Amino acid sequence: MIQLAPSILSADFTRIGEAVRLAEEAGADVIHVDIMDGHFVPNLTLGPQAVASLKKATRLPLDVHLMVERPGDFIPLFLEAGADWVSFHVEASAHIHRDIGLIKEAGRRAGVALNPATPILLLGDVLGDLDYVLLMSVNPGFGGQRFIEATHRKISELRRWARERGLALPIEVDGGINTENAGRLIADGADILVMGAAIFQSPDPAGVIRQARAIFQGQVRT
Ligand code: DX5
Ligand code: ZN
Repeated sequence: MIQLAPSILSADFTRIGEAVRLAEEAGADVIHVDIMDGHFVPNLTLGPQAVASLKKATRLPLDVHLMVERPGDFIPLFLEAGADWVSFHVEASAHIHRDIGLIKEAGRRAGVALNPATPILLLGDVLGDLDYVLLMSVNPGFGGQRFIEATHRKISELRRWARERGLALPIEVDGGINTENAGRLIADGADILVMGAAIFQSPDPAGVIRQARAIFQGQVRT
């Protein structure tokens, strides 16, 4: 089943609880929470305290995407705050295997994220340890950017590689996704689609979520 992960980065931060409830009621599967440290990416967002509050505001799993340097220093704080899925960037971690272990030992889902220019080959030795891979389809740091077309090929290659290795590895795609390009991403092999601006900058966020769900149902994986 294809999953929709609304990113609250583009929501109104003074009404974030409402945004999460709206997404849950309209049919979202998980809530994507972007954590930025002002070093790995040129922007700052939320910390563990905000994640702990969000945890109380929804029954949906929290998909925490860490865009931070030294992720190993922060993973325990977000696990403590109640993150259900945690991904960190391979470009930011000197100890990818250890950081995956921190998440899995806590019984949560562990993912790694790749920037648009980072090759999937880097994942070879940890592919079997991962609960999902997050492919960035924009350069991380901001919502509302334009989808990078080269991501289509990257998704297909990762899907093929995982299949060859006998892994049902879920692929999450993040950045510039909307109801126009979602269908093709699913056909490429994506399983989890993040949508920020397309939902929360729309005058009808619930309508966009329902439309996305309808696209997911009609889509056949090639
Ligand atoms: C970008 C973030 C994304 C972002 C996606 O750095 O990781 O999750 O919120 O937002 P849109 O869908 O607006 O590109
Ligand atoms: Zn993200």
